[in-house]
Amino acid sequence: MRKNQRITPEGTKDYLFGEAAARRQVEASLRALFERRGYSEVITPGLEFLDVYSALPEEGMYRLTDSRGRQMVLRPDSTMPIARLCATRLQGRGLPLRLYYNQPVYTANSGNGKPHEVMQAGAELIGCPGLEGDLEILSMAAETGCRLEIGHIGVFNALAGAMGLDAAAREELRLTIEGKNYPALSDLLDGMGDCPEAAVLRRLPRLFGGREVFAEAERLLPSGGARESLAHLRALYEGLCQRGLGEAVTVDLALVNRADYYTGVVFKGYLEGYGQEALSGGRYDNLLPQFGVDAAAVGFGVNVDAAARLSGGEAAPESRPLRIALTKGRLEKRTVELFRRMGLDCAQLENKGRRLILEVPGAGLEVVLAKAADVITYIEHGACDLGIVGKDTILEYGGSFFEVADLGFGRCRFALAGKAGTDFYAGYAEKTIATKYPAVARRFFRGKGMDVRIVKIEGSVELAPLISLADGIVDIVETGSTLRENGLEIIEEVAPVSARLIVNPVSLKLRKQEIEPLIDRIERCL
Ligand code: PRP
Repeated sequence: MRKNQRITPEGTKDYLFGEAAARRQVEASLRALFERRGYSEVITPGLEFLDVYSALPEEGMYRLTDSRGRQMVLRPDSTMPIARLCATRLQGRGLPLRLYYNQPVYTANSGNGKPHEVMQAGAELIGCPGLEGDLEILSMAAETGCRLEIGHIGVFNALAGAMGLDAAAREELRLTIEGKNYPALSDLLDGMGDCPEAAVLRRLPRLFGGREVFAEAERLLPSGGARESLAHLRALYEGLCQRGLGEAVTVDLALVNRADYYTGVVFKGYLEGYGQEALSGGRYDNLLPQFGVDAAAVGFGVNVDAAARLSGGEAAPESRPLRIALTKGRLEKRTVELFRRMGLDCAQLENKGRRLILEVPGAGLEVVLAKAADVITYIEHGACDLGIVGKDTILEYGGSFFEVADLGFGRCRFALAGKAGTDFYAGYAEKTIATKYPAVARRFFRGKGMDVRIVKIEGSVELAPLISLADGIVDIVETGSTLRENGLEIIEEVAPVSARLIVNPVSLKLRKQEIEPLIDRIERCL
């Protein structure tokens, strides 16, 4: 028997009986919704030429080569093939075109339990520019059962444009805003000069919620492109409210994903009980012109598997207290101290025994103690709403969560260290680096344009240069005593580290009324 004969590839699965039925049911109800609104189905091939996807980053695509050596991809998204269709077989048809699809998409690099194959259903409205098209698509998206969150990419693009930033600085700013990384955003903007746009960008990640967001944003935004985008978004929001969909829609001016692709409204959709976004979409008026078709377009895709999981009862929405994951070990004591300063009842935390879930009576909080990397995993999957974890772990593992506060404790630094008195950079030979943090080490040396061999070590990394396994280490240095006592010294600092408060994006949106006051309370006690 061959090795992989009895398993499915990573990130894929078989759907049996009830699971298959739940998926088909969600597909049927979405199909009915799309057809009721006059949309017609298209099915595109699972295999496409890479050229079709030139507007998307290649990272994460399943790529292969055909028998003639041409670069192919397993369909990573359905919008590009639809743009291709509009430029070919559908050319000459009257606009607007109303198309929908229901087919799997593939991503290669979503590790840690995330699916590589996702069934996606979506709708594209081609040739209907402006508010009218946005309203049509968004009201249909609201009917999928997702809670929607809308923003306008023009707000960020106008503000960042007025600051005259180069592409790299603009992208860094965008990522920081997208991650609601308040402390990093503040540092970044401090270094970009004092201008009205910077003051608004500083506030942007906090501008989310209901109608009140518009009043605050109108006060803050300078006139020009950003204001126009906001006015458009407000008209859209009011239009949705008039259609009785106001309850299902909130606003977030920090929705800045794929800022070079979207041109107008951007939106995401969440399902209670599913810790990641289940729907995403927006207006992308520049895409069809790249295929030679002069038409505006707006659309969205829904993760059918997410909706099916919930409807199948596999991950039914829970009504539970807010759950916060704390890192065991070094950060634990300081976190309990912080909780005590906040006036929380820490009795269970101080006498935890072997219990894994602890209550904070009277605070509506449940505490989970976990290893650092697992804190990130629990937050990413929505099993916990908030987490306290070191920046070292965040830099190593990354992930999709909001990093909302620098808690100031657990301060130390990443450093490159080697034997005292030796010149690490001398000679031509490739260096070997031992580390518990291979991603951090790789990024550091890549930044220097230096090829190194990285060896992953699980603990007491300082040993590696002493027994000639490595020329240097990249590790955490707190007091410096471990280095000193082992005849090692810092060669270069890599990055500062401290404890951070992270939040699951869906929790922040769906439980804003509980989470925001908690973040404020934490910040007041720092
Ligand atoms: C960390 C780090 C260093 C040491 C640095 O290890 O990996 O070894 O602390 O602290 P210092 O500068 O105050 O001496 P940790 O104690 O977490 O144990 P481990 O190496 O076994 O994971």
